[in-house]
Amino acid sequence: MSVAANSRLDNRYMEALGPIRPLVEDDSLTEIMVNGPEMVYVERKGKILLTDIRFDDEAHLMRVIDTIVSSVGRRVDARTPLCDARLLDGSRVNACIPPVALDGPLLTIRKFSKDPYQVSDLIGFGTITQEGASFVQACVLARANIIVSGGTGTGKTTLLNVCSGFIPIDERIITIEDAAELQLHQEHVCRLESRPPDVNGEGRVNIRDLVVNSLRMRPDRIVIGECRSGEALDMLQAMNTGHDGSMTTIHANSARETLSRLETLVLMAGMDLPLKAIRQQVASAINLIIQLARLKDGSRKIVSVTEVVGMEGDTITMQEIFKFESRGADPATGKIVGDFSSTGIRPKIIDRLFDMGVPLPPRLAQLFPDRRQLQQEALMAAAGRQMGNGAAQPAQPPPGFGGPPGLGLPPSMPPGMGMPPVGPGGSRGR
Ligand SMILES: Nc1ncnc2c1ncn2[C@@H]1O[C@H](COP(=O)(O)OP(=O)(O)OP(=O)(O)O)[C@@H](O)[C@H]1O
Ligand SMILES: [Mg+2]
Repeated sequence: MSVAANSRLDNRYMEALGPIRPLVEDDSLTEIMVNGPEMVYVERKGKILLTDIRFDDEAHLMRVIDTIVSSVGRRVDARTPLCDARLLDGSRVNACIPPVALDGPLLTIRKFSKDPYQVSDLIGFGTITQEGASFVQACVLARANIIVSGGTGTGKTTLLNVCSGFIPIDERIITIEDAAELQLHQEHVCRLESRPPDVNGEGRVNIRDLVVNSLRMRPDRIVIGECRSGEALDMLQAMNTGHDGSMTTIHANSARETLSRLETLVLMAGMDLPLKAIRQQVASAINLIIQLARLKDGSRKIVSVTEVVGMEGDTITMQEIFKFESRGADPATGKIVGDFSSTGIRPKIIDRLFDMGVPLPPRLAQLFPDRRQLQQEALMAAAGRQMGNGAAQPAQPPPGFGGPPGLGLPPSMPPGMGMPPVGPGGSRGR
C-alpha cells in the first residue's frame, strides 16, 4: 500500500476514535480510562485526572470500541464481552462491555511510549540508583533468572524492557506476550503473541503453548511479558534446564508474595506436583526478584532487590540486597523522599559474576568483594611482607572486576559469553 493510502487509512482510523482522539495523540498521557460515555479519566505524571470529554451516548462509545477491536481482527459482543486489543500505534487496549460491565462499556488504553524509557530515565525518575542498575545489569549479563514483581501499573513491563535491553546483542531473544508491549533494541529478537479463540471458540494459542514452542526455537533468552497461569511451570523448567538468563513479570506486592504466587501459578498447570517439589524448582530456578511499587505521590520505585538463595527445610530462603527506605513526604513538593541503598549483604551471585568475568563498577566491587579476590589480595600482601620490602603492592583486581566508573558495563559481553554455562546435568549447577 502506498504511503498516501496508508496515511489516509490512519487518518480515517484516528477520526473513528471520536472524542478520545486528542487523548490518543497527547504524548504526555500514559493511560486513558473510559468509564461509560460520560466519564473519561487520564493518567498524567502518575496522577489520575477526570477530563470533560464525553461520548454522545453508549452506542457512540460502542462504535469506537468496535472500530478499535475489529481493526486488529478481534470482536467484542454480548457473548464475548471481554477483549484485549491494540491501537494502530501499538497502545495496549482492554475493552469490557455489558453484560459484564454493569454501568456501560469500559475501555482502558495503556499508551504506547514511542520512545520507551531507558535505564537512564529510570535513574532520573529516582526509580533506581545507578548502583542498583549496575547490579541488575551485571546479573542480566551473568544470565540470572529474574522476576520483576509489582502491582498493577507499577512499571513492571517498563522495567522488564530495560532489563531485556541489557541482554548482549549476540544472543537470540524470544519474547512471549499477551499483547506485544516490549520494545527491544537488539536485532535478533523473535516476537510471539498469544491469540484468543476465534468465533467458533477455536484457534486459541496461549502463553503456555508459546513457552513450550519457544524451547524448540534455540533461544538464548526467553522473555515472558507476564506469568499469570500454568506457563509458570514451563518457564521454571526451562530456567532449570539450561535456558537461564530468562525473565518475566509477576503480579505481587513483595518478594515473598512473588514466591507464593509462583507456587499457585505452577499449580494452575494442573500437574498435581507436591508443594515441596514446586518450591525446589522455584528455589533453583529464580535468582533475583526486583520489587516495584507505586508510591502515594504517583512515583514508581524499586523498593527491593532480593536474591533467592536456596531452601531450608520446606522454606525458600531469600536475602535482600538493595532496599528503598522512605523518609516521608517533602512538605514543599509532596514528593516521597528516601534512600535506595545496599543492605550490606553480599549477594551469592557475586561468585557467578566473578566466574563469568562480568565486570562490576569499582563501587559495587568494593561493596561486594569476591572471596577469591580477597584471598588473592591477602596472599599478595603476605608475600610482600615476606619479601621484607614492607609496603605490599596492592593486588590487581581479578579480570572483570573493578571496571570503569558509572554503569561501566560493556553493551555486549565478551565473545563466548553468549552461551549458557554448563553445570552438572546441563543446569547452572546450583
Ligand atoms: N519508573 C517509572 N517512572 C515513571 N513512570 C513509569 C515508570 N515505569 C513505568 N512508568 C509508566 O507507568 C505506566 C505503567 O507502566 P507499565 O506498563 O510498565 O506497568 P505494568 O506494571 O507493566 O502495568 P500492568 O500491571 O498494567 O501490566 C506506563 O505509562 C509507563 O510509562
Ligand atoms: Mg505490564
